[in-house]
Amino acid sequence: MGTTIFAEMSALAVATGSVNLGQGFPDTDGPHEIARAADDAILGGRGNQYPPGPGIPELRQAIARHQRRWYGLDFDPDTEVLVTAGATEAVAAALLALVEPGDEVIAFEPYYDSYAACIAMAGGVRVPVTLRPPAFRPDLDALRAAVTPRTRLILLNSPHNPTGSVFTRAELTAIAELACERDLLVVADEVYEHMVYTGEHVPAGSLPGMRERTVSVSSAGKTFSFTGWKIGWVTASAELVAAVRAVKQFLTFVSGGPFQYAIAEALQMPDAYFTGISADLRGKRDLLCAGLSQAGFVVYPPDGTYFVTTDISQFGGADGVEFCRNLPHQAGVVEIPNAVFYDDPDAGRTQVRFAFCKRPEVLQDALARMEKLQC
Ligand SMILES: Cc1ncc(COP(=O)(O)O)c(C=O)c1O
Repeated sequence: MGTTIFAEMSALAVATGSVNLGQGFPDTDGPHEIARAADDAILGGRGNQYPPGPGIPELRQAIARHQRRWYGLDFDPDTEVLVTAGATEAVAAALLALVEPGDEVIAFEPYYDSYAACIAMAGGVRVPVTLRPPAFRPDLDALRAAVTPRTRLILLNSPHNPTGSVFTRAELTAIAELACERDLLVVADEVYEHMVYTGEHVPAGSLPGMRERTVSVSSAGKTFSFTGWKIGWVTASAELVAAVRAVKQFLTFVSGGPFQYAIAEALQMPDAYFTGISADLRGKRDLLCAGLSQAGFVVYPPDGTYFVTTDISQFGGADGVEFCRNLPHQAGVVEIPNAVFYDDPDAGRTQVRFAFCKRPEVLQDALARMEKLQC
């Protein structure tokens, strides 16, 4: 297996002095007082040695309170919450814990690149169901048809990277009914839960019959703009958390001790912080989408996340990978070809994804550079 497309494109951004709208990380850090809390923890000797395997109690309690505050969901911080090294480890540990060799795992493609690797590491068989433009809605008939007696689990991601699709309550309810009917587990990657511009984020685990069969995953990296800290978490029934914890202990065992103290504080910030995330990103989304349309891209405005998917067919070439490799040289902008997120690269061959979690002047600079593109 080679390096990821993110590493390749970020290296190209550096080599060509391009504006990097490829990898999804913000170009400003999260709240200063939270950075200060991490500093205080390190200097105060809190978390500098191995923290407890499930995560420090303060953070597990804060995660449980967050789930209650935003979704009315109750989790026991001692048995139903697990702190992980980012959402990436949470997804990996969940799949390794719950998927046996030969089990089928359904995921909506295009999907976040670690999913395919983790399903493969678990010995599972990936079964994609394709989200198609312009709206990238889940095709519920295709989902139903994809379920076989070997299906073990549905891997969900809403709000969805890279398309920005936010599954509606009705769509998620239909998926939940199918999961209950066919006795499937669900791993719900909800890292963009606080980045929704149209509609609402509905946690899969909140739907009828789902409490006992859903492993919910989220991450402080996205919500608090500290992606380098790699603090993520799982909330699920005690039985499912125990299974995920059993694997997690042999992946990283523990991580990010002092950062756990800081994120425990971050999760208690006032409602205005959380609602402000979408308000800020909505403006950036609108700025980038308008500019990309003007530059000649077909734009699929996202309902959530900090990514926008576009189509590059009008620029003559039909290959997004080639387009992304050329654009840094041609215009000095880096983005990511969606084809890498598909099992069937043809389904996403002409799509490319831009990240808009950047300062407005950076987005404006990227747009100015692309004004010269020829349709
Ligand atoms: C859908 C999705 N899941 C998980 C992650 C990884 O999250 P973390 O940095 O917390 O490991 C990302 C990061 O881009 C993502 O887009």
